[in-house]
Amino acid sequence: MKIIVGISGGIAAYKVPQLVRLLKKRGHEVQCVVTAHALEFVTKVTLETVSERRLYCDLFDDGNERTTEHISLKDWGDVLLLAPATANIIGKMANGIGDDALSTLLLSFGGKPMFVCPAMNTQMAENVAVAENLRVLEERGVRVMDYEVGELACGAVGKGRMAEPEKIVEWLEEKLEEGKSMRGKRVLITAGPTYEKIDAVRFIGNYSSGKMGFALAEEFAERGAEVTLVAGPCNQTTKSRGVRRIDVESAQEMYDAATEAFERADVAILSAAVADFRPDHQEEQKIKKQGDGGMTLKLVQNPDILATLGKRKREGQLLVGFALETNNEMTYATEKLKKKGLDMIVMNSLRDEGAGFGTDTNKVTIIDKAGNVESGELKSKREVAGDIADAVERQMENK
Ligand code: C5P
Repeated sequence: MKIIVGISGGIAAYKVPQLVRLLKKRGHEVQCVVTAHALEFVTKVTLETVSERRLYCDLFDDGNERTTEHISLKDWGDVLLLAPATANIIGKMANGIGDDALSTLLLSFGGKPMFVCPAMNTQMAENVAVAENLRVLEERGVRVMDYEVGELACGAVGKGRMAEPEKIVEWLEEKLEEGKSMRGKRVLITAGPTYEKIDAVRFIGNYSSGKMGFALAEEFAERGAEVTLVAGPCNQTTKSRGVRRIDVESAQEMYDAATEAFERADVAILSAAVADFRPDHQEEQKIKKQGDGGMTLKLVQNPDILATLGKRKREGQLLVGFALETNNEMTYATEKLKKKGLDMIVMNSLRDEGAGFGTDTNKVTIIDKAGNVESGELKSKREVAGDIADAVERQMENK
């Protein structure tokens, strides 16, 4: 997730580098944005080092890519965490004041989730205006973390401390989970190619990179689903905590893992390029050349995972297949949808440049069993995964 950490000028700002490190360790990307006063408590070098991104602190900084950087940052960020939030920035936020980099960003961030960790002296925290401002923010959907009670920087003991970074991360992730659309749903995804062994050193494979399946796994995990990713041999990695990865090699192994996981799945999306055939037997040793003659490999059919799941599908389960075609795309895809008992099929054509195997982009047409057809543009595989997830969620609502 892309998190913007807004830092205003309170002593608790000294805890923010640790907070940023924790968020990064959990696999998030972090962009820090500070007020001028925050830099009295924590340095630019520290924040840039821990976040691994340039710090944004001044609307008119020469280093800004453009003067509308706060607008591009609001497009970049998925959520904004304001920690520590002083009485001043809370007041600006509640009253629509934008007079520096952070406050203008807060104004433009509307519609996306915002989280506020207030920190201030007890008297300030109990001030009616501050309490009223926080109430207004909560009414507008901003999540506000409770103050901690304890020793304050001024020496007094009372309400107003900012929680420790570990606790903030826990709170943030818990709140983010609550709002997720696929929370509590189990999604099975197959990805990548399969390798069908010929002998000790050779196999029959295909050019599938696994990128589309991994993008789908990450997209669904980000939407709160519990994802089981059955992956054929490929070089993809995922840091997503919501993804349980099972590595397999052959179609038969993929079949075994997928049919088992399907028992508990709400949704299954089979994006793997599964070999239709395998050698009828595998040689233990490397096969040697014999004379000048050629050689014949006898192939037998692999089980069709998608068709099997189509037959086993229970009420309420949703099954999505992929169709990679080179010609007569719509006809073949629609036939496959019916024949394999699918709810939806994602079609991509090798005739479209930038679509299909290996590329970082894809161009797909999503067809559902009611006959609705949605044709997409050429997009990144992650964006395509978002479109597929949207279509899946729409189908689930109608089930
Ligand atoms: O029939 P075809 O192989 O073109 O169908 C493609 C779809 O079927 C993909 O979703 C693919 O993952 C799935 N498939 C499968 N098991 C096979 C062959 C294809 O799950 N043995």
